[in-house]
Amino acid sequence: FIRSLSSSAALHAAIKHVTIIGGGLMGAGIAQVAASTGHSVVLVDTSEDILKKSAKGIESSLKRVAKKKFAEKPEDGEAFIQKILKNISTSTDAASVVQGTDLVVEAIVENLKVKQDLFGALDKAAPEHTIFASNTSSLPIADIASSTARLDRFGGLHFFNPVPMMKLVEDTPGFIVNRLLVPYMLEAVRLHERGHGSKEDIDVAMKLGAGYPMGPFELLDYVGLDTSKFIIDGWHEKDPDNPLFAPSPLLNKLVAEGKLGKKTGEGFYKHK
Ligand code: NAI
Repeated sequence: FIRSLSSSAALHAAIKHVTIIGGGLMGAGIAQVAASTGHSVVLVDTSEDILKKSAKGIESSLKRVAKKKFAEKPEDGEAFIQKILKNISTSTDAASVVQGTDLVVEAIVENLKVKQDLFGALDKAAPEHTIFASNTSSLPIADIASSTARLDRFGGLHFFNPVPMMKLVEDTPGFIVNRLLVPYMLEAVRLHERGHGSKEDIDVAMKLGAGYPMGPFELLDYVGLDTSKFIIDGWHEKDPDNPLFAPSPLLNKLVAEGKLGKKTGEGFYKHK
């Protein structure tokens, strides 16, 4: 958090009601985890259609969890799913939802201006005790928070994809994992662009040789090529001489073609 919470009333407030803004890859996962830990959750996005897709995704993910957890007693699995789903509702009106919320977790597009505009508007609508957090992968929290007047109740809450499986949440400045992972993935693309290896070979090499569960191209498809591009472009703008942050023509081309990875059915690979 930007400033210590110790002097803030927020420290003593129990978090019961959580608003998640953005029902994409990350937001849906965060909503699932928050609902599974007994919070009352409202998931917000820009359209009912998107929210329907998010809700479907959460239900399928819970079914997978229940299948493993209640392999012996499927009827308990069904009750488990229903109990968690009951904790989640959806809305397209963030400003009215936050009027009764203790914590806002934002997981919308990785763009500073869009995030600032959202938080600026929510700051006026949310009660004083409400804590704001961003799931940003690369933007400085202080820059996002500058659009609000609650700097002592604003933090980074950086989850990992897939949220229900990954145990880490980071709020350290600098985002250790992404600072290492994004340049690594982009180096893999550059290696391929130079003709030094097919994407399949590079993926197999990193899985077998480094023990990674996914190769860099599989991981890029999983993260989202648009999100990866937003991150690298942002860093490149801040530090244009750093070769680790140099833009990749191939990544840019795929994004321009709308091939954003698993979420659109095609990125570096085709997905069913
Ligand atoms: P996504 O593209 O899957 O989802 C973003 C969602 O936000 C979309 O459903 C979009 O309709 C919605 N949205 C956009 N503007 C909005 C607004 N003003 N109000 C309400 N909803 C809005 O993106 P993803 O991957 O879930 O990323 C979201 C955030 O999480 C980004 O800041 C990203 O950097 C961060 N992140 C992403 C990770 C990944 O592996 N994809 C990992 C960790 C963080």
